[in-house]
Amino acid sequence: MWKKLFGNKQPKSSGTIQNNDGLDPAKIPQHVAIIMDGNGRWAQKRGLPRTMGHRAGVESLKKIVKTASDIGVKVLTAYAFSTENWNRPSDEVSFLMRLFIEALENEIANLQSNNVLIRFSGETGVLAPELQTTIAKATQRTKDNTGLVLNLAINYGSRAEITRAVKLIAQDVIDGQIKMEDISDQTIARNLYTADLPDPDLLIRPSGDLRISNFLLWQLAYTEFWFTTTNWPDFTSELFIQAVRDFQHRERRFGGLKKSK
Ligand code: FPP
Repeated sequence: MWKKLFGNKQPKSSGTIQNNDGLDPAKIPQHVAIIMDGNGRWAQKRGLPRTMGHRAGVESLKKIVKTASDIGVKVLTAYAFSTENWNRPSDEVSFLMRLFIEALENEIANLQSNNVLIRFSGETGVLAPELQTTIAKATQRTKDNTGLVLNLAINYGSRAEITRAVKLIAQDVIDGQIKMEDISDQTIARNLYTADLPDPDLLIRPSGDLRISNFLLWQLAYTEFWFTTTNWPDFTSELFIQAVRDFQHRERRFGGLKKSK
């Protein structure tokens, strides 16, 4: 099982996730997407600066990467910074950019030894040069890994992603690479940041907000949603397992009919 999912390098067990978690190994979601929300509220409740909530959020992400890998999820997409997050106070934005560098630098060896492949969704080419260098290093260093794909959405907005795809396709039409009548769903999917990834099976949003916030609008067409009021820094492996367990009891019809009909 592990060999099939992860190749020869096996992920280390966290020691906390056991077979008796009641999960059906045949129904593990291939791709789980997470909106890591509630960091600010978590900090404010404790009388801490919002930035401490983001720092605690990194610890949650580390735990969930491990758990996702342990149960056999193939792709984990985490929404770290949206195209709208630039509207936050500049000191919070600068803190987040430094935090991304620090977290990636600190975790790269661990992710590498756990066979995790890191990739990014979003317009990373406009980020600070130091962060771009860190992103390039993390991508390059883990590119041959065959375990969990950790897809970090940084400077990501779904409308911007779709607009970019439309421009890329229009250019291909102008260049004679494709004919307009040949444009299909697949043409669009191939021009998104998530090009070769399966669509998410499960979207998790902590913190109690019930919205998509410009995240993966195209890719979430038939995704199952799971919400919790727990803020992201308090999100646990057990909650992740609970979300997956609930997912396994959903009936996915993809616009079709119930099996019994
Ligand atoms: C949303 O909570 C969270 C963010 C904008 C930042 C999330 C980033 C991390 C957890 C760090 C991830 C690390 C890497 C390396 C990618 P919020 O601030 O909107 O919370 P609020 O709604 O309570 O104010």
